[in-house]
Amino acid sequence: MKIAVIGSGYVGLVAAACFCELGHDVTCVDNDAGKLKLLREGQVPIHEEFLPELIARHHRTRLHFSGNLAEVVHASTAVFIAVGTPSKENGEADLSYVESVARELSQAINGYKVIITKSTVPVYTSKWIRQVLLLNGASSNDFDVVSNPEFLREGKAITDFLFPDRIVIGVTEERAVRVMDEIYAPLSTGAYYLAADSIPAPTHFKGPAQVIYTSAASAELIKHAANAFLAMKISFINAVANLCEAVNADIEDVCKGLGSDSRIGPRFLRAGIGYGGSCFPKDVAAFRSVARNYGCEFGLLEEVERINSGQRARFMRKVRSALWTLKGKKLGVLGISYKCGTDDVRESPAVSIIHELLAEGAEVKAFDPAATGRARQIFGSQVTFANDAYEVADNSDALLILTDWEEFSELDLNVIREKLNYPIVIDGRNLYNRQKMSKAGLVYHSIGRPSVDLERLAAASPGLAC
Ligand code: UGA
Repeated sequence: MKIAVIGSGYVGLVAAACFCELGHDVTCVDNDAGKLKLLREGQVPIHEEFLPELIARHHRTRLHFSGNLAEVVHASTAVFIAVGTPSKENGEADLSYVESVARELSQAINGYKVIITKSTVPVYTSKWIRQVLLLNGASSNDFDVVSNPEFLREGKAITDFLFPDRIVIGVTEERAVRVMDEIYAPLSTGAYYLAADSIPAPTHFKGPAQVIYTSAASAELIKHAANAFLAMKISFINAVANLCEAVNADIEDVCKGLGSDSRIGPRFLRAGIGYGGSCFPKDVAAFRSVARNYGCEFGLLEEVERINSGQRARFMRKVRSALWTLKGKKLGVLGISYKCGTDDVRESPAVSIIHELLAEGAEVKAFDPAATGRARQIFGSQVTFANDAYEVADNSDALLILTDWEEFSELDLNVIREKLNYPIVIDGRNLYNRQKMSKAGLVYHSIGRPSVDLERLAAASPGLAC
């Protein structure tokens, strides 16, 4: 199948590389000349597991890049729209990029095309795209519009794409169904998994994905509802974690008990400093706006957002209560990206906490395995950037864990303790075992779990100073 992917951001680039992996011929269209140049040279502008391998595997054979939308659309049967849908001031999704692509498409259509939205869009976007195409002269015989939302997590996007739980296809026209079937056949039949060089399956993968055919409006709602539900799960567990702190219970044990109920499930129950990234904050707000616009107030989502931003404020209170005043304190920060496995710092809880620490007069030294470059653009010389976690701990008054990078959980705690000025670790991601922290002589505060506090540590080991 000849496929055009309009937009080569996280979603577009991943989808393009994965469609090539499924055997299709793909051209990515972008209007950013700098990005195109980079991509044509075979460079990968984002940090994403397996993406460099797939781009290297398919570049110039099945994967191409172009700035000429009309030319690429002429040569394609399926056209995926994967441009940005940023938030407007009022929380609504800004669909102007989608609309302008639809206008361009109306001029470029030269025979039957299936036009598919991959970007996260509010309900009825497919209907609007259809109207824009018709109003701008495209013939209704020459196209169908499909909603085919993605469920890709950054950092795991390639495996999420190639080993999905489900594939949602919102379209009712038979001719478009045939095209969509052909595109996803290697996944729905499982043929891709038999290939000798296929990307390794994740441990939870249970076999070929279910394909869910539905209307475009339902498909669009599935995407927003899925993200809102996952965000709600995180806020729910964070609220329970806060209660755990109040009654001296342990959120890890509570999660074990809760998540082992197969109706609830254990995933997305990690308490912490809240969710961030380019999807959950934006999509929860957009879903609320959609509901409001159709006369259905969704107050539950307001509470989800309130709990989420409250987690950052609670973390700041923990920092203050461990260190008293923050002015002039030297604070080491591990993690800047919004979660592990990515260099993305958009809406990162870590970034907003660092801003607050700086506003209170603390000196911040930070390290992130992937996001330092992006963090430099935000903080410039306000933050000192270290080359590794130990350099961060060195001469810091406390260590703050803000992103759940696995490598942070494997640090030598004795070395950390020796390097710190005070043996204090405040963990916003629950990366460490409390007993181990106590054994290493570290005061340890985390989320929803009893602390290893200074008094307890001092009683066990009178010579506490580092
Ligand atoms: C999310 C969804 O998981 C994807 O299914 C969806 O396709 C994507 O948004 C999107 O709409 O494009 P993503 O934002 O990449 O993916 O990251 P997640 O792994 O979902 O994490 C989001 C945030 O929640 C992170 O800040 C993470 O640290 C936090 N989180 C996640 C928790 O605090 N606790 C958890 O248990 C899980």
